[in-house]
Amino acid sequence: MRAGAPAVADRHRWILRRWLAVLDGTDVPAGGTGTLVEDGRAIGYPPETTRFMLAAMERLPELLRDELPLQALLFEDADTADGAYRENTVNRYLNAAVAEVMRWAAASVRPDGPLRVLEAGAGVGGTTADALAGLAGRDIDYLYTDVSRYFTSLGRRRFGDRPGVRFGLFDINAEVDEPGSRHVVLAANVLHNARHLPRTLSGLRDLLVPGGLLVFIETGREMPALLASMQFLMSAPAGTERLAPGDPREGTDRVFLTPAEWTDELHRAGLRPLLVLPRPTHPLAEAGVHLFTARRD
Ligand SMILES: C[S@@+](CC[C@H](N)C(=O)[O-])C[C@H]1O[C@@H](n2cnc3c(N)ncnc32)[C@H](O)[C@@H]1O
Repeated sequence: MRAGAPAVADRHRWILRRWLAVLDGTDVPAGGTGTLVEDGRAIGYPPETTRFMLAAMERLPELLRDELPLQALLFEDADTADGAYRENTVNRYLNAAVAEVMRWAAASVRPDGPLRVLEAGAGVGGTTADALAGLAGRDIDYLYTDVSRYFTSLGRRRFGDRPGVRFGLFDINAEVDEPGSRHVVLAANVLHNARHLPRTLSGLRDLLVPGGLLVFIETGREMPALLASMQFLMSAPAGTERLAPGDPREGTDRVFLTPAEWTDELHRAGLRPLLVLPRPTHPLAEAGVHLFTARRD
């Protein structure tokens, strides 16, 4: 540590505040906290992902001081990110559900031409493979997007030979420039990156044709293992604010909404919630990650 360097970089201060709020028990979300190993087991993480979380904990002082980017640990090898977003019990279940929802969407939306899908924040393509499997044999125009060119290049390498799949940049925080152009918008583990959730949801609604579907996966409760690792990906660049004024998480240092809060936000944005999986009584509900489907009426 450099002499005089702050123990916590300004842009990561909200993380520390959130830990204190959770530890203080004043604002522990439903579901409790649990431990890293228990959480890992509940979610069915492979050893690479649990190792990554342990590595993040060991290196918390450097992460907090912003001397080490979390990406250096997360993308150390391909299996770690894949384990976090794809190769675990909950995500396998959710991605299989995405495949089914896509199959059903193609039948229920009944497009004149190709089914036009935009996937936002496609990242390493953890959900894309299953979404495309659900659309096999269909005429599709599938736009694989991310805010970062790194991920669209990665997507191109992985899915570039699939018929009907194109690649482009798309920022969920930017104005939508092709309203009414998509039958389905898919967003897996990305909407919590919104600076102002109501604006992002309204933008995605505008992107849809009437009757179009917003399909998204989101974590609905905080887990200590994520609070001490993935949370570092959520800090805004130095000198900028993570959330815009009026975002429902403002003043709480939270990243995730509960399923009930998502349902409210969807209604407010003019989207009718159709389905939330897993259902509360399902054994995987405890893991706190959900698939939402909503329709633009
Ligand atoms: C947690 S990863 C999820 C990746 C993938 N959807 C999955 O589930 O495997 C989040 C992704 O969202 C992207 N992202 C972050 N901020 C974004 C924004 N403002 N607009 C679009 N994508 C964003 C990141 O680059 C990253 O690829």
